Amino acid sequence: MKTVHTIAELREEVRKQKAAGNKVGFVPTMGNLHEGHISLVEKANEVSDFVIASIFVNPLQFGAGEDLDTYPRTLPEDQQKLEAADTDLLFAPSVTEMYPNGNAAQTTVTVPDELTDTLCGASRPGHFCGVTTVVTKLFGMVQPDLAVFGEKDYQQLAVIRRMTNDLCLPVEIIGMPTVREDDGLAKSSRNGFLTDEQRSKAVFINQLLKETIARIESGDKAFKDMEQLAIERLKQDGFEPDYFAIRQQDTLKDATAKDNKIVVLVAAKLGTPRLIDNMCCELI
Ligand code: PAF
Repeated sequence: MKTVHTIAELREEVRKQKAAGNKVGFVPTMGNLHEGHISLVEKANEVSDFVIASIFVNPLQFGAGEDLDTYPRTLPEDQQKLEAADTDLLFAPSVTEMYPNGNAAQTTVTVPDELTDTLCGASRPGHFCGVTTVVTKLFGMVQPDLAVFGEKDYQQLAVIRRMTNDLCLPVEIIGMPTVREDDGLAKSSRNGFLTDEQRSKAVFINQLLKETIARIESGDKAFKDMEQLAIERLKQDGFEPDYFAIRQQDTLKDATAKDNKIVVLVAAKLGTPRLIDNMCCELI
C-alpha cells in the first residue's frame, strides 16, 4: 500500500486508476483505526477495484473545548492495519494541504438544519458543517465511485447521504453495520480513553438500547416516557447524557405512534469520552 500526503500525488494515482477503467472505492477516516473501520475497507474491497482510505483529523468538525488536540493520532499502526486489509492507497494530508487559506477562510457546505441542528448537532454546533465540508473536499480529490461509512455515526451518515443527493455528487454512499465488542459496546476510537471502571459501565448504553427496542417491538408507544426513563437511568449510572431519542429512521424527526421505521439514538459522556450508539427496528 502506498501512502501519499499531497492532493497532486493523490490525483495522479486516481487518474491512472480511472484511465484503467477501475472502480474506485473510498473510506474516509480520522485514523486510530479499529475493526469497525476495517469492516468499511473490506466492504469497499468487495464492491470496487481500487480502495483508497484517508486519514485526516479534521479541525473543522471539532468545537471549542472538544478533543481535537487529544484525538489519537496513530499513523504507523493505522498504515499496518490498512495494508493488512488490502487497501490500495492511503491519503494522509496535513491541515495546510486541506485548508491552505486557513480553516476560517474555507468555503463550507451546510446541510439544512432539520438534519443538522438536532441530536449531536444540537450539542456540537458547526460539527456537521465541518463534516460535510471535508467530505465534499475529499470527494472532489478522490473522485470515488462509492464511499463507505459506519452506521454507528447514524446522523452523520444521514447528513452525508442528504448532502450527496442534494449536490448531485456522483458517489454511491454505502452504510455498514456497527462493529461491537463481545459485550455489545460499539467500537470507537474514543473507547481507549475509558478507565477500567468506566469500560465495564459503558456497556449499559447498549443494554438500554436493546431494552428500549424490545419495548417498542412489543407495541409500547410511550416514546417520551421511555426517553425520560433512559435519561434518568443513565444519570443514575454515572453518565452525563446528552440525548436519548426515539426518532424516524429517514428524517430523524420524533417518532410517532404511526411510524414503523424507528431508530433509537443515544449520546452520553462517561468521564471524558462522549459515547454514541444507536439501534434500529422495523415494526410490521
Ligand atoms: O466519521 C469520521 O471519522 C469523520 O467524521 C469523517 C467522515 C472521516 C470526516 O472527517
